[in-house]
Amino acid sequence: MTLLALYETRSQATFHVMLKALCDLYGLRKDELDRVANEAGYLAAMNAARSDKQRMIELVKPGRIVEIGPGGGVVLDLLEQRFPTSEVIGVDASREAVDALARRARAQASRWRIVHGDAERLGELVPGPIDTVVFCSVLHEVYSYTEPRFSLASVRRVVEAAFAALASGGRLVIRDGVQPPPGRRRLRLLAPDARATLELYTAQFEGRRIEITELGPDRVELSAADAMEFLYTYTWGPASFPYEVREQYGILPYDDYVAQLVAWCGGPGAAHAAPLPPEIRSYLQPGYRQHLAGKIELTDGHDRPVELPDSNCLIVIEKR
Ligand SMILES: C[S@@+](CC[C@H](N)C(=O)[O-])C[C@H]1O[C@@H](n2cnc3c(N)ncnc32)[C@H](O)[C@@H]1O
Repeated sequence: MTLLALYETRSQATFHVMLKALCDLYGLRKDELDRVANEAGYLAAMNAARSDKQRMIELVKPGRIVEIGPGGGVVLDLLEQRFPTSEVIGVDASREAVDALARRARAQASRWRIVHGDAERLGELVPGPIDTVVFCSVLHEVYSYTEPRFSLASVRRVVEAAFAALASGGRLVIRDGVQPPPGRRRLRLLAPDARATLELYTAQFEGRRIEITELGPDRVELSAADAMEFLYTYTWGPASFPYEVREQYGILPYDDYVAQLVAWCGGPGAAHAAPLPPEIRSYLQPGYRQHLAGKIELTDGHDRPVELPDSNCLIVIEKR
């Protein structure tokens, strides 16, 4: 445990290899969702995306509100503040996260409460109609960790359970990663650790096989979706690397994601996607651009400079 905490602070790729190997060898993740010695740091980082999450809160319909996978609890706090007369309940599958949240609820005398369990069992865990179910950075984890891993079937089961629990006129509010539209991207690897981290990422990413075309000593080409996964794991840094390589952040491109959700919720006769302003449908979270500046240069398949891919999306599905 001492070594793990030390390795999590080092930026060289070799430390990442050791860290992941130790976690795997000794089964040090208490469950798939725990972050070993870095759990507190990880949850603090989640809480730091607070202002971005605040925007999502405005899409919530008050009344009875459930957040699936509250993790560090920042969204529960935001919901409680924004909707003082609503009932706010968190449901998390990680024992570690639930125990920490229960302690925090007691310490700060929160009105929200927390329930331990898998979101697939939402109907049993929180009986009765719900006005909004919030999924903030959760569906990509369901996709990445539920066996068989990296299959949409598990996301579908969780979404179906949430939609079934909604009152009519109720909402699913989803904030998560988003896959870029199909395309090719070229990376110029400028930072001293960029090449080694890319090679390690390619070897360890568990979501799918990453195909890299070598264009030169510091240049590679890959799909836009693979580039997005690598760039944002690289941005998060060494402490979260062993966990991020286990997850796929963007599970579908925006339009496909919306179409899939509506279909899982019974089709257009039963559900529809609420219209959202284009700038919040899909966007780049602040921080990524600054972090990657001077470290990696991005161009398209014809060497034209391009923007970083959007990191996040917001989707609202309403029950008719
Ligand atoms: C990345 S954290 C998100 C934290 C929080 N929603 C936020 O945005 O600050 C994901 C959380 O989802 C939980 N989780 C993952 N799969 C779940 C499932 N099937 N049912 C309930 N919780 C789940 C994890 O335990 C973890 O606490």
